[in-house]
Amino acid sequence: MSLVVFEHYGEIDAPVGTTVLAAAQRLHAPEGYACGGVCACSTCHVHVVEGAELLSEVGDDENDILDKAFDVRASSRLGCQARLEREGRVVVAITRESLEAYENEHAEARGRYTRRQVS
Ligand code: FES
Repeated sequence: MSLVVFEHYGEIDAPVGTTVLAAAQRLHAPEGYACGGVCACSTCHVHVVEGAELLSEVGDDENDILDKAFDVRASSRLGCQARLEREGRVVVAITRESLEAYENEHAEARGRYTRRQVS
């Protein structure tokens, strides 16, 4: 079992094989997923703060999508493609791009997360 920590939104235990996006959804953390998790948008974009070595490798498709994302860093991953491969602790920050996408898809959440995000 691994622990996935979403900065500002809490943490959840997740078995190896779980994607970061699936962990976010179980926790009800506000990570976007406009394409439904098929590597066709960048709305699930996160920055991996800790534990990147526990996640699956970045694939060519993921890199292609990240090329079109905002605020891309060396730590950037798509939550729907980053899968837990080893047990341990992973810490991620949901990007502003992803928070905005989540709010766009969830009218009741509009402005709730992007307004309070500090980084
Ligand atoms: S949800 Fe669209 S690329 Fe991850």
